[in-house]
Amino acid sequence: MKTILVTGGTGYIGSHVCVQLLEAGYQVVIADNLINSKRDVVDRIARITGKTPAFYQTDLLDLDGMRAIFRAHHIDGVIHFAGLKAVGESVAQPLRYYSNNLTGTLNLLTAMQEAGCPVIVFSSSATVYGENNPVPFDESMPTSATNPYGYTKVAQERILSDIAAAQPDMSVLLLRYFNPVGAHPSGLIGENPNGIPNNLMPFVAKVATGELPRINVFGDDYDTPDGTGVRDYIHVCDLAHGHVLALEYAFGRTGTDIINLGTGHGSSVLELIHAFSEACGQELPYVITPRRPGDIAECWADTKKAKEVLGFTAKATLADMCRDSWNFICHQREEAE
Ligand code: WQD
Repeated sequence: MKTILVTGGTGYIGSHVCVQLLEAGYQVVIADNLINSKRDVVDRIARITGKTPAFYQTDLLDLDGMRAIFRAHHIDGVIHFAGLKAVGESVAQPLRYYSNNLTGTLNLLTAMQEAGCPVIVFSSSATVYGENNPVPFDESMPTSATNPYGYTKVAQERILSDIAAAQPDMSVLLLRYFNPVGAHPSGLIGENPNGIPNNLMPFVAKVATGELPRINVFGDDYDTPDGTGVRDYIHVCDLAHGHVLALEYAFGRTGTDIINLGTGHGSSVLELIHAFSEACGQELPYVITPRRPGDIAECWADTKKAKEVLGFTAKATLADMCRDSWNFICHQREEAE
């Protein structure tokens, strides 16, 4: 039974991946500094799966703390989620973002190398396709970014690829996510950002609960069917399943590979608002506001490689994603009562 270290494993995507790793029979060790998640997610993972992952409240900036985990467990592979990920914040705090995301990854790779752990799956992002590639984005396209957060992803992909090229036994898999949304159908884990969300789905959810007055639609003058931004929304449970398939693939090879995880379909802002209105049973107020700087009109995945290499196809619809998001929110409110 292989043991997998999941950095950022109490976070939104990480927690859903931990659930599916445990259900697939892996042992799971979580390292998370809890800067953007809560300790009780470990208990929720245990409630869903009946298995409790080991948990270390550790910051990747603490190299000795990372070394201690590799001494305490025989880690067969790593899935690396931990990192700061708010685009706007990265523009305001570039040094914090480069330092945290790059130093953390370098420390992780140092601890892995010292322990002889050769397999890493990295949480990358469609953001590395930048704004000059034609959609659908495919893995052969050049990478760039329009903000420091995006450049930390571009740089981490470069670092991982270079190390794999120098280390013949190493297997590196770069997974480029499109727009993960939704929640586990149990309603026990989901996306629950602190404060005012940057991303569309959690913002829409806070309007549905009445915590925010209305949705600001960032521009309706894009060259898209209804003028609003188009994105490839993928259910976080489909994304998590993709990680289990990706890990099995990574164990069977060496070198670096890159795979998109998306649905291959685009949905507009207004389509998502309508789908969420259906899910929560109320019309959601919105106002058209100017475009958000740095946004691209449309983005969706070429999914051929994920299908061919992993046998992966995302199954959930936008309605499923909104239903599960709303179910999670209702579950959270019941718990708070
Ligand atoms: C989606 C659409 C907005 C908020 C970001 C990161 C990317 C990745 C996913 C980490 C766009 C519109 C949004 C709002 C709106 N994160 N929108 N009103 O920008 O596609 O990607 O999250 O890896 O790196 O860049 O996601 O959810 O912010 O925006 O109209 O209040 O919704 O213009 O068209 P995005 P998003």
